[in-house]
Amino acid sequence: MRAAFFGGIYNNYIGLEEALADARRRGAERLFCLGDVGGFGPHPDRSIESLRKAQVEMVQGNYDDAVGNAREDCGCGYTDPRDNHFARLSYAYTLDKTSAGHRPWLAGLPPQLSVELGGTRLHLVHGSPRQQNEFLWESTAPDAFLERLCVEAGADVLLCTHTGIHWQRQLPSGRRVVNVGALGRPANDGRTCVWYAFLDTEAETAPPFCFIPLAYDHQRLAREMRAEKLPEEFVETVLTGWWTTCLEILPSKERLRGRF
Ligand SMILES: [Fe+2]
Repeated sequence: MRAAFFGGIYNNYIGLEEALADARRRGAERLFCLGDVGGFGPHPDRSIESLRKAQVEMVQGNYDDAVGNAREDCGCGYTDPRDNHFARLSYAYTLDKTSAGHRPWLAGLPPQLSVELGGTRLHLVHGSPRQQNEFLWESTAPDAFLERLCVEAGADVLLCTHTGIHWQRQLPSGRRVVNVGALGRPANDGRTCVWYAFLDTEAETAPPFCFIPLAYDHQRLAREMRAEKLPEEFVETVLTGWWTTCLEILPSKERLRGRF
């Protein structure tokens, strides 16, 4: 069984199209998206239409809940005024540009999903099983806490996104947590590619999950973002691979890997 897991699309429909094609080339039989279709990039309807057309199995992110229900903000939980300023700009843009016809679909997405693939029980969430917008970072989530989340969810593998940075860890019990990363923006590593997670239960490699770096036409995305008058700070991230906003959420270890 082969399956692909996409995190945070953030309106990067160009990266999403590339990821769908890439996953199919690799033989993915199931395609999953762990939520946050909107935010950051241009033309929100295009990502939604691609996901719906490809019948990607969805989990609802905080952004999908916010846009689908026309909430006041994106529910990202920023406190820094600068991050809040940029979060408001991208949320206002996405809310305004998402067709009314797509909103019930976003609002109705399941907040969690349990599936069994090749005998492994997977539990898919956006942030964490206990909170849609909880950040699970590699450097700050202790094994015991992650074990508890897996046990409570009845899962061999817990998959999440929301942070924008991919990582995975095998726990002492043999259970595993996989943050699948994000298709919507680079992983703050100075590379312009974006990432998704791929499972091959027949693979001889261990672990059976790997992370796929995905090159896409980021220059085109940047041009379209500028044409839509999205903040130049966002465009810079797409062109350089370094985060320029939303830095407050990064724990110190993850932040030290970045430029800002
Ligand atoms: Fe999120």
